[in-house]
Amino acid sequence: MLEESFTVRMARPEDDAQIARLVVEGFVDKFRPIFGRRTSRSVGIMERWVNLEHSLGGVRSLVVESNATARLAASVGVRTGPSEDDDALSRGLWEALRRDLGFLRASWAATLLSYPRYAASSSEAYVERLVVTEAYRRSGMARALLEEAERLARKTGKKTVGLHVSEGNVPAIRLYEETGYAETSRQRSLLTGQFLGIRDWLYLQKRLW
Ligand SMILES: CC(C)(COP(=O)(O)OP(=O)(O)OC[C@H]1O[C@@H](n2cnc3c(N)ncnc32)[C@H](O)[C@@H]1OP(=O)(O)O)[C@@H](O)C(=O)NCCC(=O)NCCS
Repeated sequence: MLEESFTVRMARPEDDAQIARLVVEGFVDKFRPIFGRRTSRSVGIMERWVNLEHSLGGVRSLVVESNATARLAASVGVRTGPSEDDDALSRGLWEALRRDLGFLRASWAATLLSYPRYAASSSEAYVERLVVTEAYRRSGMARALLEEAERLARKTGKKTVGLHVSEGNVPAIRLYEETGYAETSRQRSLLTGQFLGIRDWLYLQKRLW
């Protein structure tokens, strides 16, 4: 049991930088092969991405904040609405990648970051970039964020919650199985298999009653 107390709340615009740091830290195995020696720059790129998702992409984030330090310990993105402008979203991300990485590396990064592919559905909320900072894992934060994401999904009239998880991500797969998610399909990518060590992306769904 943790001594510290925490609050789960909706993210505010000023949280974007901390969310980006959490995501890069939590998914460093994915970011390192994409950004190589420029991995430190991926925090700025991720911040821009989160920012664009919030402003244009129909995504809201939930965070877990320490009541003592106001630092964030965990976060998740929940897509509950249609993207206002998919083109602007991809253009903004592309600009951020190109500015920081140069054309060739940016093309490479954009291709790998486009997996797993997802087609939004109006009856489903999509959960993405769930991450808990290492020091606070196994204390129920991911479970709490998923419950809150599902509450948000119900409030916005969704019938299901969907998410992707990479094969081999045992902690995440256990978490989703424990909380009622089941695999409904798989995507195979030889490209991410070769360069990220992730060949299969599992699609999991939970029906909301
Ligand atoms: C996956 C992740 C989000 C889990 O966060 P967490 O806060 O530690 O998870 P919780 O404490 O809420 O765990 C809930 C349940 O999930 C399962 N679980 C979580 N981590 C596990 C692990 N390392 N091994 C086995 N089961 C695990 C357990 O059933 C656990 O319940 P229990 O602790 O009562 O046994 C966290 O490990 C993480 O941030 N990983 C890196 C980023 C990532 O892979 N995100 C998922 C993307 S799809």
